[in-house]
Parts: sequence; structure tokens; C-alpha cells
Amino acid sequence: MRTAIEMRDVSRIYTVGDMTVKALDGISLEIEDTSFTAIMGPSGSGKSTLMSLIGCLDVPTSGTILIDGEDTSGMNEEELAYIRNRKIGFVFQHFSLLSKLNALDNAALPLLYAGVPQRERRERAEAMLERVGLKDRMMHRPSELSGGQKQRVAIARALVNNPSILLADEPTGALDSVTGHEVMDLFHALNEEGHTIVFVTHDASLASECKRIIPIKDGRIADDGT
Ligand SMILES: Nc1ncnc2c1ncn2[C@@H]1O[C@H](COP(=O)(O)OP(=O)(O)OP(=O)(O)O)[C@@H](O)[C@H]1O
Ligand SMILES: [Mg+2]
Repeated sequence: MRTAIEMRDVSRIYTVGDMTVKALDGISLEIEDTSFTAIMGPSGSGKSTLMSLIGCLDVPTSGTILIDGEDTSGMNEEELAYIRNRKIGFVFQHFSLLSKLNALDNAALPLLYAGVPQRERRERAEAMLERVGLKDRMMHRPSELSGGQKQRVAIARALVNNPSILLADEPTGALDSVTGHEVMDLFHALNEEGHTIVFVTHDASLASECKRIIPIKDGRIADDGT
């Protein structure tokens, strides 16, 4: 099995005024290609920090992160953006859709940043929205969609570049349990199609559907779960 994500002794220390917070404290882990992993842990344990680092939205204070075997330490902002755009899709708890854009334009946004021509943007975003079951909601703005539909637009947006890795930070946190399970079913289907999926959840029943659970506590892996 290939390794999609590898962290070696990764720490992230935040500094606020004269106070420092060790959000991650020497994390080492490997996540296999095409695997399905849940990250669990109490509030403030470092889960979102971990996801931001894997997603190349932030860089560690110390330690090394490899994405698809590629060492990201020492990469500049442009190189990190390239990895983000090519290999990683990110889904946030609160959807983070642009309220003035309809579902189609929201889903197509990463393609705009990647410089894909308009017609292809439209075709690929339509195909992705259809894939997540929103063919008949493409012209709706976020305010005209349900919570589960918004989250599916966010998933379509995360996948429109066909990244191998899908990261989701509490993707079901703002959803009721039925809608949460629908999102999970979609993740299972995407995992079957070969996407590596890592998601954060507080819901033990959702986590138990995954092949692997990584428990985080006080910025450390409580027990690797393998
Ligand atoms: N930008 C920041 N600046 C300073 N401290 C931060 C920052 N982001 C997070 N922290 C601190 O780092 C620690 C880990 O935060 P993080 O957001 O990773 O936790 P979490 O496990 O995602 O929690 P939750 O379940 O509540 O989302 C917390 O103590 C938090 O206060
Ligand atoms: Mg968090």
C-alpha cells in the first residue's frame, strides 16, 4: 500500500501575545492511500490544527509532512498552493460557501483558481453536483439550500479538481443525524472510488464506520488505533 499522508514528529505551537499553546506535540502517523480514517478527540485537542497541516493550509513549527511521498517542508506558499489545488479537497464544518454564488459557481470555484477555461469549469462542476445528487439544485444559492445540500455543494467543490485526498473537518457537525449519515454514505462511495478520506467527528457511531480511528488528546495521538 502507498502512503498518502505521512507526519514525522510534527508540532504546532501557536503564539498569542506572550502566551504559547502547543496545539500539536510530536505527532507521527501514516495514512494509507485509499483508506478511510476518522480523527476523534475532545474540543481543543488539536484536530483542526492537524487537518490544516495535512491540508497545507498551515505549516508545522517543527517536523515533516509528506503528501503522496512529497516532502512539504521548506515549500513556499506557491508550492503549497499547488499541492493543495492538485491533491487535496477540504470540507469545513460550516460549508464556507460564497453566499452570492449559486451551487454551480461555488462548486466550480477551485477550477477558476486553477485557470481552467469557463466551459470546462461548468461541465466539471455540473458533473460533480450530479455526483452528489444535486442536479436539480445547481442554480440555487446557499440560502436556498438545506444544510445537507449545502454540505454536498461543499463536497462537490472539494472534489471538482479530482484530488486523491479528501479532508473533512466535522463535515456532519452542523447536520441532523439522518443528513449526517447521508454525507457519510457519500464519503463511503467516494472511498470505494479510490479517494483517501480523513474526517474529524465527535460522533462515535459515524467514526465506527471507518476502518481506522485516530484518537487525539492534548495534541498527541492517544493510541494509534492500528
Ligand atoms: N490560530 C490560533 N492561535 C492560537 N491558538 C490556537 C489557534 N488555533 C487553535 N489554537 C489553540 O490550539 C488548540 C487546538 O485547537 P484546535 O482548533 O486544533 O482544536 P480542535 O481539536 O479542533 O477542537 P474542536 O473540537 O473544538 O474543534 C486549542 O487550545 C486552541 O485554543
Ligand atoms: Mg476543530
